[in-house]
Amino acid sequence: MSSNNNESSNKQQQNIEHADLLTKSLILSHEDFEKISTLLTKEFDRGLRSTKDSIVKMYLTYVRSLPNREEHGRYLALDLGGTNVRVLLLEFHGPPSLLSLKSSQRRQQQQQQEPKKPPIEIIDSSMKPIPTEIFHGTGQQLFDFIAEFIVEFALRNKLAGVRIALGFTFSFPVVQQGLAEATLVTWTKAFNCPGVVGNDVVRLLKASLKRKTHHSIPFIDVVAIINDTTGTLIYGALQDKNCGIGLIVGTGSNACYVEYLSKIEKWPFNYSDPKQVVINCECGAFGDNHVIDWALTNWDRRLNYESLNLNKQIHEKLISGMYLPEILRRCLLTLIELGIVFEGKTPIELFRPYSIKTKYMSFIDQDNENDENNFPNTRKALADMFNSKNPLFKNGFSDSDVKIIHMINRRITKRSANFVANALWTLAIRIDNVDVAIAYDGSLICLHPYYRSWVEEKLNEFIKKTGIKKRFRLIHANDGSLYGAAIVAAICYREKRPKFIKKRGKIYEITRF
Ligand code: GLC
Repeated sequence: MSSNNNESSNKQQQNIEHADLLTKSLILSHEDFEKISTLLTKEFDRGLRSTKDSIVKMYLTYVRSLPNREEHGRYLALDLGGTNVRVLLLEFHGPPSLLSLKSSQRRQQQQQQEPKKPPIEIIDSSMKPIPTEIFHGTGQQLFDFIAEFIVEFALRNKLAGVRIALGFTFSFPVVQQGLAEATLVTWTKAFNCPGVVGNDVVRLLKASLKRKTHHSIPFIDVVAIINDTTGTLIYGALQDKNCGIGLIVGTGSNACYVEYLSKIEKWPFNYSDPKQVVINCECGAFGDNHVIDWALTNWDRRLNYESLNLNKQIHEKLISGMYLPEILRRCLLTLIELGIVFEGKTPIELFRPYSIKTKYMSFIDQDNENDENNFPNTRKALADMFNSKNPLFKNGFSDSDVKIIHMINRRITKRSANFVANALWTLAIRIDNVDVAIAYDGSLICLHPYYRSWVEEKLNEFIKKTGIKKRFRLIHANDGSLYGAAIVAAICYREKRPKFIKKRGKIYEITRF
């Protein structure tokens, strides 16, 4: 090996060591996470006492019943939470009305009807990206756009003249006064339409629907509003009766769980059956009162400082797909400035905030730490991210650059998975059952090659270190936010479905609408 080659490989080794040292702050120990879990428990407790005096709000969702496969009929679901709006028409094939059958027939029917799979049939679905001008427009424009979309969809499905219930998934922090009343507290993620915060979003949707409909159009009855985590939990509960937690790790991140009313000091009603309710934790806000500032790196702090929502959603900023690439970008800029990466020259693409796409992080993580193949995905991702005409990259990417980028990418995504596992653990220990099924969805956890297994690994570490007996099952509730809304609408109907009483040997139907 020539002395030039030797020098270059020494320099590369030095750069790797230097980068390793500088980004160690992205690694938190298990003891750190135990401390973070204790802090989160305190916030959960505070939120269950009072929404006003808490950071992690623990919102009451008023969803108290889970699906029991007796849901029946057609329902609409609407989902707003990301850059698209989605609508779905579902039919549930639960047991039919038992009224008209003789008792022997009823028994036979019930036995035959015992379904193995969730008895759901998708009739139609549609998705529309929210145009930029609507995204940056007023609340009324946003809801009019959505209403138009639903009406179009309903007409396509020949629902004119039909009364149909709709469940609405709205994935933002809302204070609910009931199942179909929800005041937006603040926008999160990239939303910021004026005229919505402080207003009941169900009323806004209903007003827009009224504006966009005329006599021949279906009567769409918005019967419930839920969060995407709640939808995910509800959909998971169809697959596993032990499902107690709903989790989203996508553009945003949040979790919900089923809590006993007796443990919720702020529960405003009596403790009638069912004695439980789904709590939307809005745990993305954990840390907004600075209790985990010690765990943040300077890159996290700068990202927060320059974000749309300063000092808000700190936990979410450490976890979700919207922010992780921005942490990576900021981290890279530091290493470039110190001459550790890219010979100290910044490719122009990296100057623009939020310019790195989340998908690249999943792709880079597919390479292995001690990759004999020389990090092929990382090289491909970099080639895709940067202009190939940049003279800096005319000979491709140096081994040390690739190794360093892979290392910090992984530190950021793994830290995110650890924070998620920590939140799940902190919730799971509030649940009496040893077996806890967790329904999850969201682009980061679903599309990343190892994210889910890292979450499971960390949960197992918690079990080992604390000695607390828990068994976890992670269920992918694909599109749960959408299905969940239709299921909740169906549950509303199920709860009000005709009940039967037996009098003098005869069966009577009593309707309780
Ligand atoms: C944000 C929203 C929350 C939602 C989450 C996932 O954190 O505030 O309501 O559940 O994103 O979409």
